[in-house]
Amino acid sequence: MKYINKSFSIEKVKAQNLAKKFNTPIYCYSYKQLKVNINNFKKNFKYFSPLVCFAIKANTNVNLIREIKKLGLGADVVSIGEMMKALKAGINPKKIVFSGVGKTYAEISYAIDKKILLINAESKSEIIEIEKVAKSKNKIIDIGIRLNPNTDAKTLSQISTGKKENKFGVNKKTFFKLVEYSKNSKNIKLKCLSVHIGSQIVDHKPYEKMLKIVDEIIKKTNHKFQFIDLGGGMGISYDDNNKKLNYKKYSIAIKKILKNHNSKIIFEPGRAIVGNIGVLISKIIYIKENGKKDFIILDAAMNDLMRPALYGANHRIIPALKTSQVSKRIYEFVGPICESTDKFSTIKKFQKLKEKDLIVICDVGAYGMSLSSNYNVRPKPIEILIKGSKINIIKKRQKLIDLI
Ligand code: LLP
Repeated sequence: MKYINKSFSIEKVKAQNLAKKFNTPIYCYSYKQLKVNINNFKKNFKYFSPLVCFAIKANTNVNLIREIKKLGLGADVVSIGEMMKALKAGINPKKIVFSGVGKTYAEISYAIDKKILLINAESKSEIIEIEKVAKSKNKIIDIGIRLNPNTDAKTLSQISTGKKENKFGVNKKTFFKLVEYSKNSKNIKLKCLSVHIGSQIVDHKPYEKMLKIVDEIIKKTNHKFQFIDLGGGMGISYDDNNKKLNYKKYSIAIKKILKNHNSKIIFEPGRAIVGNIGVLISKIIYIKENGKKDFIILDAAMNDLMRPALYGANHRIIPALKTSQVSKRIYEFVGPICESTDKFSTIKKFQKLKEKDLIVICDVGAYGMSLSSNYNVRPKPIEILIKGSKINIIKKRQKLIDLI
């Protein structure tokens, strides 16, 4: 994605042309960037030839998942709906892992019928439920147990999952007990230790800590784990001075523990695969003066992109058409929703904007559309996948009539 003749373009397609053709707001993804991300990910961890399971929750567009599947990834799912989408996109069930703290009987039953690779359990009750379902089907089911390593991921508190106060996984003591419990079960087979300490992790040190604990625990259990599922969480850079995770250092830390265990590594990246492939194109409805600043009122809002309102996350905003006129005003980019948190960003230095201009909100491929809602009875945006100069509508804009 770059400017071609001052016009922001996704591969060879100008944002402006898309807006003209499809109206706004638009979620637009670059296939080329998706391919780059997947190849990079694979290259960085080539040494382990891991099973890479895309965390479907990051982007649940079936047509996009189909492309991700074609590029060789499996799926990490957290609900029956996500599992159905992964299967519909053609992902091999033997490349699907099922995570989450509250899998229901029906979900477990569906997962077993579809013969997915692993169900990662997060409590004793869940293991008992899996056993129950497996027994009723007269089957032996491969499971993982998710460890809560009590490690601070040094990320936003709202997206941290590996500390003892978080609801995820089980602590060391329970982990040992559950390993023993599993050994004596007739209907489950413990194949995997899984762990996921949070999202948007840009410092490799929390991963190092987590790996040390994983290493210790596996040694203590004296159990042969066929898989170690290290989850996702790899952070990306959201603005120019934002750092991103150093894969090399993470990879070295994994190597260190792997020499003690002959297990296959599973990763569950979401953001690292799709975060930077997407932009949200939006039109300025009005500009409203307010003291020293102007409210730039967009036709995209918090229902389309929740991350700023939900986590105080910052997404870069850039003009769709570059000019050389700099504004003297402070711009506050907001949506039309009746909430003060419906605000994307405040920018001190921006080019001069006028009503009807187009802007582009960057890096919204992960947890953008998948977190969107119909709040204020607003239809969800169209989703477009660009391949070179080819425009593929991968999801139509919701029709207002369907919401009424
Ligand atoms: N595996 C498990 C078990 C997870 O819970 C998650 C994310 C992932 C993998 C993928 O994590 P990633 O590689 O994308 O960091 N809505 C938030 C992020 C929530 C992440 C939830 N779990 C956001 O917009 O930042």
